[in-house]
Amino acid sequence: MPTSNNVRIDSERSIYGKPLMRLFTIPIATALMSLTLSGCERAEPIRWTSSELVSELPDEALREQLVGIVNENSGSAREPRMISESKDDFDFNLHLKHGQQVYMKRCVQCHGVSGDGNGEAAKYLYPKPRDYTRGIFKFTSTPYGNKPRREDLIAVVRRGVTGTSMPRFNRIKDKDVNAVVDYVMVLAQRGELEYQLAMEAEAAEELDEDFIPEFIEDVVNRWQTAKTSLTQPLTPQPELTEARAKQGREAFLSKGCSKCHGDDGRGHTKDNIGKDSWGHATRAADLTSGMLHGGQEPIDIYRRILNGINGTPMPGFKSSLQSEPETIWNLVAYVLEVSNRRRYGTKIPAGLMKPYDQGASEETE
Ligand code: HEC
Ligand code: HEC
Repeated sequence: MPTSNNVRIDSERSIYGKPLMRLFTIPIATALMSLTLSGCERAEPIRWTSSELVSELPDEALREQLVGIVNENSGSAREPRMISESKDDFDFNLHLKHGQQVYMKRCVQCHGVSGDGNGEAAKYLYPKPRDYTRGIFKFTSTPYGNKPRREDLIAVVRRGVTGTSMPRFNRIKDKDVNAVVDYVMVLAQRGELEYQLAMEAEAAEELDEDFIPEFIEDVVNRWQTAKTSLTQPLTPQPELTEARAKQGREAFLSKGCSKCHGDDGRGHTKDNIGKDSWGHATRAADLTSGMLHGGQEPIDIYRRILNGINGTPMPGFKSSLQSEPETIWNLVAYVLEVSNRRRYGTKIPAGLMKPYDQGASEETE
């Protein structure tokens, strides 16, 4: 609420400047005060907290040095800054502040004030809300191990993650979505820098100031690279026919998919339990549930298969399938078929291989 604060300071000044104005300033100030109070959902100012990795560092001076570097580059909760963008861009910084307001209204209960996935509701949820501070995102259109593109995050926020508590925000304004996504990127980049520095501080027991610019550059480069790393399919999308789904099923059994997802795609295999990068248990998706987490479009499924899913045991199949690119589309056809199966019965009519339609919005206004 910086604007209303500024107005208040101005009206206070006028108290001393023009005695007559005093008559008006009291009611105006009272009105502004109550506006400020009712407009604010929290009594306390927002604060970002450091991760456990930092608080567990034994040396206080080192901890302080680390926090200082992080704040210098990503600002504070009062003045968020994006590491990969110019820090002096006034309009962009205002836009980030707006993103923070949207975040504190619609995302914080799950993703937490600092973006560590530990919001109030998180303990009741599975899968857990994403901890952005590792800078790892699952549903990207970029090669395995890469950062997401901004568009990927926008798409996730718009469509939600079907079958999890992540809602779809498909009715809020573009301006709000763009701003909140940029704010998520602030939290992710900040967390990433903090994580890298904490690992270094733990291993070396010091942070050599000479090397700090490299850590920062790494974060910047990774996010900049993602902007131009959109994965295009190796071959254009063909018609996804029953015949293709049949071939896809064969590939599913012969290329190792069934080892994790089971012969029938339901994931009921003995060894189907793993850990993700956030330390939570995870299992190969039940592809028949009609709830593909990473999007229902053929291209979404294609990218999951080609690139794998960051932070999870789902591997990318680029190296093993790039010599037979049609197989990837066959697998897409098969995945779509099984994912539609519960909806349409075991046989789906030709030409009906449409993505599952999620129906009405789940977003609560
Ligand atoms: C009710 C809880 C809840 C709310 C509210 C919520 N999320 Fe999520 N969010 C989740 C969960 C759970 C996941 C993890 C899904 C998964 O792992 O498949 C997630 C994942 C994400 C991801 C990661 C996607 C990826 O590719 O890895 C992003 C980005 C995200 N949420 C952004 C937001 C934003 C922005 C808001 C507010 C506008 C928001 N979320 C509100 C629960 C929530
Ligand atoms: C090593 C085990 C493993 C293998 C092999 C594997 N997967 Fe997966 N797969 C997973 C896991 C685990 C997930 C869920 C990741 C998550 O969201 O936590 C997954 C998710 C997926 C998804 C995304 C589902 C969604 O909800 O969007 C698709 C599609 C998929 N796998 C297809 C395949 C195909 C096709 C193959 C073979 C070419 C394959 N997988 C091989 C483990 C595996």
